Amino acid sequence: MKKLFGLVVVLFLLAGFSTGCYYDNEETLYPSGVCDTVDVRYSNQVNYIISNKCYDCHSNATAPLSGSDVSFEGYANISGYLSAGSGDVNFTHSIDHSVGYTPMPKDQPKLSSCEIGTLIKWVNNGYPDN
Ligand code: HEC
Repeated sequence: MKKLFGLVVVLFLLAGFSTGCYYDNEETLYPSGVCDTVDVRYSNQVNYIISNKCYDCHSNATAPLSGSDVSFEGYANISGYLSAGSGDVNFTHSIDHSVGYTPMPKDQPKLSSCEIGTLIKWVNNGYPDN
């Protein structure tokens, strides 16, 4: 009986770990409202936020039509934008709605404070391709 109990515990742990690595929505990305701005990665949170909240106007396909020809699709485009001129400052100030900058996402609700914190942290880290 003890052995069976142990097996059940192990199975639960395995199930927890395997689903813990699969991010497909905001709830699994930030379980129970915990916002991880420590381990910020392009391949994880950043690309997820940008593609969900910015591609409507800033993907390769939509940028010429509705994003002022600015595409953030893929690492090369977004890092190219951030490193040119004051791109990084424009970017962080537009998403936190600083006075004097065009608020983004345009005509849509402001990003959550977790999303803003995550993106700003990544930019301040030097926007690594991680
Ligand atoms: C509904 C369309 C739309 C969405 C969604 C959107 N943008 Fe924009 N964005 C624009 C337009 C249009 C401009 C050009 C400036 C203007 O007309 O306000 C722009 C300009 C910008 C600029 C300044 C570009 C420059 O250097 O001139 C930044 C930075 C930016 N957007 C970031 C974002 C980010 C980050 C997101 C997602 C969180 C986002 N935008 C979502 C339409 C959008």
